Amino acid sequence: MGSLLKGKKGIIFGALNDMSIAWKVAERAYEEGAEIVLTNSPMALRMGTINELAEKCNAEVVPCDVTKMEDIEKLVDRAMEVFGGKFDFVLHSIGMSPNVRKDIDYAELNYSFLDKTLDISAISFHKVLNACYAKDAINEWGSVVALTYMAAQRTVFGYNDMADAKALLESIARSFGYKYGVRNKVRINTVSQSPTVTTAGSGVGGLKDLLDFAEKMSPLGNADALDCANYCISLFSDLTKKVTMQNLLNDGGFSSMSMSEEVMKQYKKGDK
Ligand SMILES: NC(=O)c1ccc[n+]([C@@H]2O[C@H](COP(=O)([O-])OP(=O)(O)OC[C@H]3O[C@@H](n4cnc5c(N)ncnc54)[C@H](O)[C@@H]3O)[C@@H](O)[C@H]2O)c1
Repeated sequence: MGSLLKGKKGIIFGALNDMSIAWKVAERAYEEGAEIVLTNSPMALRMGTINELAEKCNAEVVPCDVTKMEDIEKLVDRAMEVFGGKFDFVLHSIGMSPNVRKDIDYAELNYSFLDKTLDISAISFHKVLNACYAKDAINEWGSVVALTYMAAQRTVFGYNDMADAKALLESIARSFGYKYGVRNKVRINTVSQSPTVTTAGSGVGGLKDLLDFAEKMSPLGNADALDCANYCISLFSDLTKKVTMQNLLNDGGFSSMSMSEEVMKQYKKGDK
């Protein structure tokens, strides 16, 4: 048990089950002394196991479908009641694409599905920030983190319209990072995580091969959910007070690679 987040309070979106990255962030935040409120969509609350996590972390669970502004507003109000005032950090760990789920090719996107992808996976971040900003809910030097993926910058086969959602998410972090930084010194960043085995991750076509490839390309190997959680904790802590409007790569070095010896060897083997 550390004390990096001693006295800090925060909302954690997106813990569905014990594979979720948000689950690990919640556990680590609690271990570091934070008080947390957990939230997920009503459907996820029924399907997942968030209550186990809530018990472990002594946290209240507040339902919130992030496509609904009124749900987000109620969540922020409830969190302020639970905390007895403003809070210090928010984790946005949310992603869903009906086009990916239904295996629709990127060249033939269903546009009403695309609207849903963007709404749930990106615009929800703006809505959460908007509610917090309007209610002046986050303390000075507070920290907001959203999870993203490298396909926002470099095309990854199979990631489909989630790549477009992540590009928008990262842009919102910069644009709102300016507004919130100037007014309240609140910092806003995205963490771009290695492929990770989770429920959402498993929806991406060929995740197993992608994990294997990324592992072999990355000098430090893939970052797992716990590595991601630890990075988020550092961003919620006072040790990173001047880091804002950044897309931060937690990927074992993958994004700086074009070819590794291990992948080259495997490529040659397959060639014979
Ligand atoms: N798993 C990976 O390979 C990977 C890599 C990089 C980034 N990420 C990102 O990490 C984040 C967390 O995903 P994960 O991999 O832990 O999977 P996960 O399935 O555990 O989490 C996704 C969460 O989004 C929530 N969600 C979906 N629709 C919602 C709605 N309408 N309202 C509220 N919540 C909703 C789900 O209930 C779920 O808890 C996502 O943003 C994802 O894109 C994942």
